[in-house]
Amino acid sequence: MSGRRIEIAPSILSSDFSNMRDAVDQVEVSGAGIVHFDIMDGVFVPQITFGPKLVKDIRPHSSLVFDAHLMIVNPETQIDAFVDAGCDYITIHQESTVHLHRALTKIKERGVRCGISIVPSTPVASIVPLLDMVDLVLVMTVNPGFGGQKLIQSCLDKIVQLDGIRKEEDYDFLISVDGGVNLDTIQDVVAAGADIAVTGSAFFDASDRSAFVQRMHSLAMESFS
Ligand code: DX5
Ligand code: ZN
Repeated sequence: MSGRRIEIAPSILSSDFSNMRDAVDQVEVSGAGIVHFDIMDGVFVPQITFGPKLVKDIRPHSSLVFDAHLMIVNPETQIDAFVDAGCDYITIHQESTVHLHRALTKIKERGVRCGISIVPSTPVASIVPLLDMVDLVLVMTVNPGFGGQKLIQSCLDKIVQLDGIRKEEDYDFLISVDGGVNLDTIQDVVAAGADIAVTGSAFFDASDRSAFVQRMHSLAMESFS
């Protein structure tokens, strides 16, 4: 039997923003180990969500791994604030700044795990020079900005490609997948080689969220070879 295990990372983007602390509690109670915070600035993506203050205020109330996905331009200007807020992972977009190496180095130097993300139109080749320094690669399987979109199947090839490079070069980054991940798509995502499944609307739409997380795990198990 394979020793692989998928982590489920609910995104609170699809939660009721008037009660964000409760949303994070619901993630914790469901048995998921990671909570995914979608940070949007209205420039890199059309929507505006929230900033580091909200993450900081929730931090003392949760023992989950905090995973911040920065969909903002010039993320280097906000790294200190998200580190100070208590994030465990900070992921920035390949398309969001010229100075990716500098920004990723800054995250690492502050003692936080760093991630790089690519939108559907960005090839894996564009981040190959950074793969030896990142802790996580976040493959977007929808165009970022909104929850509830359909997974773009062709993006799964990028997970396969990244998994191949990881094995070939003996790198140890995790592969996370974000966008349209649900009970219908989890097996394809896992079969492609992902380690973390971000799931927003499917999690918050589920009537029994613990059962949803368990079902995601058991479907994932069936896909492990
Ligand atoms: C989209 C966000 C996602 C979003 C996923 O830009 O990065 O994290 O919450 O939502 P679903 O699972 O509904 O596609
Ligand atoms: Zn996200």
